[in-house]
Amino acid sequence: MLVCHPTKTLSLNRSISNGDLVIVYERHDSMKAVTVSEGSVLQNRFGVFKHSEWIGKPFGFKVFSSKGSFVYLLAPTPELWTLVLNHRTQILYIADISFVIMYLEIVPGSLVIESGTGSGSLTTSLARAAAPSGHIYTFDFHEQRAASARDDFERTGLSSLVTVVVRNIQGEGFPDEFTGMADAVFLDLPQPWLAIPSAAKMLRLDGTVCSFSPCIEQVQRSCETLQTYFTDIRTFEVLLRTYEVWERKMESLKGSNGSLPSKRRQCSAGSYVLSSSPSISSVMARPCAEARGHTGYLTFARRKCV
Ligand SMILES: C[S@@+](CC[C@H](N)C(=O)[O-])C[C@H]1O[C@@H](n2cnc3c(N)ncnc32)[C@H](O)[C@@H]1O
Repeated sequence: MLVCHPTKTLSLNRSISNGDLVIVYERHDSMKAVTVSEGSVLQNRFGVFKHSEWIGKPFGFKVFSSKGSFVYLLAPTPELWTLVLNHRTQILYIADISFVIMYLEIVPGSLVIESGTGSGSLTTSLARAAAPSGHIYTFDFHEQRAASARDDFERTGLSSLVTVVVRNIQGEGFPDEFTGMADAVFLDLPQPWLAIPSAAKMLRLDGTVCSFSPCIEQVQRSCETLQTYFTDIRTFEVLLRTYEVWERKMESLKGSNGSLPSKRRQCSAGSYVLSSSPSISSVMARPCAEARGHTGYLTFARRKCV
C-alpha cells in the first residue's frame, strides 16, 4: 500500500511486480484483492486473466481476458481495501473513517491507540495517516481476529506501522507503558465506558479520544464517564449520499419533443446529466439505490487537566 516514505517522498515506482497486491476492479461495487503470482491466473465471469501479463504494467492498467473482456488493475489504497477486505466483524466505512482521521488530527508521527481491531478497516487508514514515523497500537481480545489482522497488515505492507496486541481492554485497560504518550485513542467496543478511564490515562494532555457506538444508549453511558476526564465532548452521526456515475447513449435520453437534456439538468427523479457530447453519449449521475444509512455515532472528547 502506498504510504509516505521516511524521506517524505511518495514512491513513483508504480508498476506492478510479482508478489504485489492489486485491486482487480470490475466496477464500483465489484472488485477483489489479488496477490500477483507469476504462474497464476485469475478466473472470473469475464474469462481467464494471466498474472504474468500484469507484471511490469503501471497501476491503473486495463487488462483483457481470454474472452476479450477487461478489468482494471488498481493500486491498493485504504479506501479500496475497506471495500474488499475479509469482513470478520462489522467495520468502519469511508465516511466515518474520514471524519475520525480529521477530528483526531492523525498526522505523520502520531501515536494512536485503538481497540478493538476487528477487521482492521479503520487501522489501515490510521496507519497511512500516521506514516512514516507514527505508529498504531491496536488491541483486540479475540486471538484469531488479531492474527488475521496481522496477516492483513503484512499483505498490505503496513506491518511496520501497526502492532496488534491480544488484550481484554474493557477488563484490563491499556498497558501502563503507554501512559501519557498517545496523541489519540479510538474505541470501537461494546461497552466503551469501561475503557474510558484507561483511554484518558494513555492520552497526552489535550489528546483526543473517539468512541464509535451504533446505539444512542451506549453514547449516553460513554458521555457520562467522559465528563470526568474530558472536555469538549461532541457526538456526530455521519450520513453519506452516494451517486452512481455512468455513461449512456443520448438516444435513450431524448424527451418527448426530441430534445436532449442540457448540461447538469435534472432529467428524472434525482438523476443528473453531468456532461454530454451531443452526438454520442452522456455522463449520468444517480443516487445509489442501496444507500448506507445509520452506521453509528462518533463521540469525540479532549483530555482535560484534572
Ligand atoms: C466492531 S469490531 C471493530 C471493527 C473495526 N473498527 C474495523 O473498522 O474493522 C469490534 C471488535 O472489538 C473486539 N472487542 C470486543 N470486546 C473487547 C474487549 N473487551 N477487549 C478488546 N477487544 C474487544 C471484538 O473482538 C471485535 O473484533
